[in-house]
Amino acid sequence: MKITVIGSGYVGTTTAIVLASMHHQVISADVDRGKVEKLRRGVLPFVESGLDKLLCEMHGSGQLEFTSNIEAAIRDGQVIIITVGTPSLPDGRADLRYLQTVADTIAGSINEYKVIAVKSTVPVGTNRWLSEYLAEKIGTAELFDVVSNPEFLREGSALYDTLHPERTVLGGNSSRAMAILQEIYKPLDSGFILTDWETAELIKYASNAFLATKISFINEVARTADQVGADVTTVARGMGMDTRIGSQFLKAGIGYGGSCFPKDVKALIHTAKELGIDPKILEAVEAVNRTQTEYYLNKLTDVLLANAKKPWTIAVLGLTFKPDTDDQRESPAIRMVEQLLEHCIEIRILDPTIQMPTQTPWPDEPKIAVCSTIEETLSAADAAILCTEWEQFGKINWKETVPIMRHPILLDGRNYYEPEHMKAAGIHYIAVGRRS
Ligand SMILES: NC(=O)c1ccc[n+]([C@@H]2O[C@H](COP(=O)([O-])OP(=O)(O)OC[C@H]3O[C@@H](n4cnc5c(N)ncnc54)[C@H](O)[C@@H]3O)[C@@H](O)[C@H]2O)c1
Repeated sequence: MKITVIGSGYVGTTTAIVLASMHHQVISADVDRGKVEKLRRGVLPFVESGLDKLLCEMHGSGQLEFTSNIEAAIRDGQVIIITVGTPSLPDGRADLRYLQTVADTIAGSINEYKVIAVKSTVPVGTNRWLSEYLAEKIGTAELFDVVSNPEFLREGSALYDTLHPERTVLGGNSSRAMAILQEIYKPLDSGFILTDWETAELIKYASNAFLATKISFINEVARTADQVGADVTTVARGMGMDTRIGSQFLKAGIGYGGSCFPKDVKALIHTAKELGIDPKILEAVEAVNRTQTEYYLNKLTDVLLANAKKPWTIAVLGLTFKPDTDDQRESPAIRMVEQLLEHCIEIRILDPTIQMPTQTPWPDEPKIAVCSTIEETLSAADAAILCTEWEQFGKINWKETVPIMRHPILLDGRNYYEPEHMKAAGIHYIAVGRRS
């Protein structure tokens, strides 16, 4: 099958490489020429374990091509998979401008029947709109079928998730188009949910909103645990052993981030409000997440005010929204740094995916320093904040850091360490919802 994937970001590149490895003839198309050039050279433009190796394998295979000629790519594909971004607008709505551009390009280039699969996360009603919009612009609905095909991969395990999806959701009104996509995805051996556009779209938003809800729920419980001296990690373990609840996404911390949860919760709130529904739960999920960094930063600043003279030097361990990715979008670590800047003389960042300030949101901020070793980061620091649980931070010998830090204070924003180990190491340890 000749497949064109439009948008070579995290989702599009992963999809394109995996489909090529399944012996399809794949074109991955993106307007970002720099990205296309890198991919042509066999270089992945983002960090994703295992995907770089598969890209190299596919590189000379003739199965996979990268281009910035979107029109030609559309003409070549029998199936067009759309994976462009759908970021948040200031009012929380999903910004569909990239999808609109792709729709216009398809309308101007379509030459024969194509299945158009929308993998981008789009609000309820978008696939129906796309279908009607294309029919009007092209002058016929005979040349295409639109299928909602939401993506569920997680950054950090994108390759595994794409090869082993827990479900494949296809929503649409054409059994012909759904059958073609089922045939393509059949080797992945996942269960299919075949449904209509609106249901498919809502499955994606409801899934992400539910996972975000679990995180904000346990984060709110953590605040209570703090007050009563309970241990939220044991609370979560006790809850998670109940199979009706499940143990995943019950890790208390400084909040969720990334390119999906924040924007998808906001977009679902917006959709509900437009429909006259009062999305009480979702608004609370958002509010807990928004204030979680501040809540724990206040705990840290209370300790700092009692121990260290301002302005402070703070070490920030991890800037990405989670480990094993270079994605900083909506990272709680960034909120932490923003809130700290006015109190600090220097903020030192250590993250395995960051080598220079231009890779941070503060390329010209003189107070921001990017470090490359733990010693350099912690040397004479007034406190450290663990924002991302990168594996290498699990290997830090905290006892050895005590003499090099000005004040051996650590806010563990991911409950990555054990309070008794930290106490034994001589660290003034602040965790999220754990006695410390
Ligand atoms: N990243 C994830 O973990 C993830 C998981 C599931 C679903 N999603 C959803 O998938 C979609 C894509 O997410 P992403 O993280 O891959 O985004 P991304 O920002 O990494 O990639 C989007 C790409 O689309 C390209 N693009 C924009 N307009 C274009 C056009 N007109 N023609 C061709 N290319 C164009 C951009 O240059 C960019 O490279 C979003 O809707 C997101 O919500 C993302």
